[in-house]
Amino acid sequence: MQTLGNKKILLGITGGIAAYKSAELVRLLVKAGAEVRVVMTPSAQEFVQPLTYQALSGHRVYLDLFDAEADSAMDHIELARWCDLLLVAPATADFLGKLNAGYADNLLLTLCLASKQPVAVAPAMNQQMFANPSTREHIKQLAAKRVMLWGPAEGEQACGDVGPGRMLEAQQLFDNIRQHFSPGRLDGVKLLLTAGPTREAIDPVRYISNRSSGKMGYAIAEAAVRQGAGVTLVSGPVSLAPPQGVELVNVESAQQMYDAVMQRAGESDIFIACAAVSDYRVDQAAQQKIKKSSDSMSLQLVLNADILATVSALDQRPFCVGFAAETQDVEKYALGKLERKNLDMIAANQVGDGNGGFEVDFNQLEVFWHGGRHAIGQASKSEVAKQLIDLIAERYTCASS
Ligand code: CTP
Repeated sequence: MQTLGNKKILLGITGGIAAYKSAELVRLLVKAGAEVRVVMTPSAQEFVQPLTYQALSGHRVYLDLFDAEADSAMDHIELARWCDLLLVAPATADFLGKLNAGYADNLLLTLCLASKQPVAVAPAMNQQMFANPSTREHIKQLAAKRVMLWGPAEGEQACGDVGPGRMLEAQQLFDNIRQHFSPGRLDGVKLLLTAGPTREAIDPVRYISNRSSGKMGYAIAEAAVRQGAGVTLVSGPVSLAPPQGVELVNVESAQQMYDAVMQRAGESDIFIACAAVSDYRVDQAAQQKIKKSSDSMSLQLVLNADILATVSALDQRPFCVGFAAETQDVEKYALGKLERKNLDMIAANQVGDGNGGFEVDFNQLEVFWHGGRHAIGQASKSEVAKQLIDLIAERYTCASS
C-alpha cells in the first residue's frame, strides 16, 4: 500500500553504528511510496558506504556542502525546501549538541538550519552519554524548539552497556513517520486537561494531598497530542516529564488549579478533568509551622469549588469529560456524576485493593455518556489513554456536527 505516496523525506545520517538500521528504513519508506533523499555526515561514512543508501533510495547521496552546491540538480537550500520532513537517524550526541547550538559546519547541519519543515531526531548513543546532563539539556532545548524526539529505545547496546540510548528500530521510525503524516482525529482542536493531585496547605511545611501519580492524565495528554490536538495540561505536583508538544501549567492547590482552568476554559473545545482535586482545604492555613501542644488537634476544612462542574456550567462550554475513581458502586456513582455535573462523558474506574487507578502503570475504564457506554479493558495507561482519546474524538465529533 502506498501509505506515504508523494511524501518527501530527507534522511540525515550521522556517525553511529545504528546507521545500518537506516538502510532498512530507506527500504520501508521507498516501498510505502515516499521519495527519499539521504544526506550523510563525514563520520557517518565511516560506518556505512553511501552506495548502500543510493541503491535503496534510487538517488545520489548528498555528502558535502560544496559538493551539493556544485550539483545543479539541487543545492542545499533547495533540498531544505524540497522535503516534507527532515529526519536525522541516527542522531549522535555530538550532532544534537551542534543542532541545538545552531552550528552549520556540515551539509546536514546546514540543511537543518535552512529548513522550515518539521525536523525529527532519533538519538543513538551510549547510555551514559544519553544520561549526561549536557545531552539532556540539549534534548530539552531542542524539544522547546519543536524538534521532535523519536526514541531512544532501551536495551543492550553495541558497546555492551544496557540502558536507554539505542536508536529505535527501522519499523518504529517508519511508524512514527506514517503517524506524522496521517491526519489526527483531533486536528486543530484545543484540549484542556487537569492531572495529578492537589496540595492543600496546613502550614508552610505540611499539606493534605492524595495518591494520584498523574500518570493517567499525562498519558491522555500525550495521546491527544498524537491525534493533533493543541493540549494545555494543568498539572498538580507530580514527578513526570511533560509529554512533548504539550503546554504545561504547574499548580499546587485546588484554588490555583481552578484559576488556571477558568482562565482557559472559555477558549477550549474539550475539557478533560483527570486531576484528583482535593474536595476540601484547610480553612485558615497557619502562617508559621504548627508546634505540637496537646494530645489531639482539629483542622477546620472547607469545601473547594468544583472545577469540572463550574466549567460545564459556562455558557460557552467545552465538551466536558470527567473521571470517577470509586472504591464501590462504580456505575451508580459515575452515572450520578454525569448527571449532577452536566457532563458529556465520564470515565469510571475502581480504585483500591490492587485494582488499576492510582500509583500503578495499568488501568481499565468504563466510559459512560447519555445513551451509551464502552468498556476499555485492562492495559497500560498509555494504551487506555489512546483508546479513551479515540472515544472522546468520536463523541466530540458527533456532538459538534
Ligand atoms: N473535580 C473537579 N474539581 C473538584 C472535584 C472534582 O474538577 N473540586 C473533578 C475531578 O477531576 C473528576 C470529577 O470531578 O473528573 C469527579 O471527581 P471525584 O472526586 O470523583 O468526585 P466528587 O465530585 O469530588 O465526588 P465524591 O468525592 O463525593 O466522590
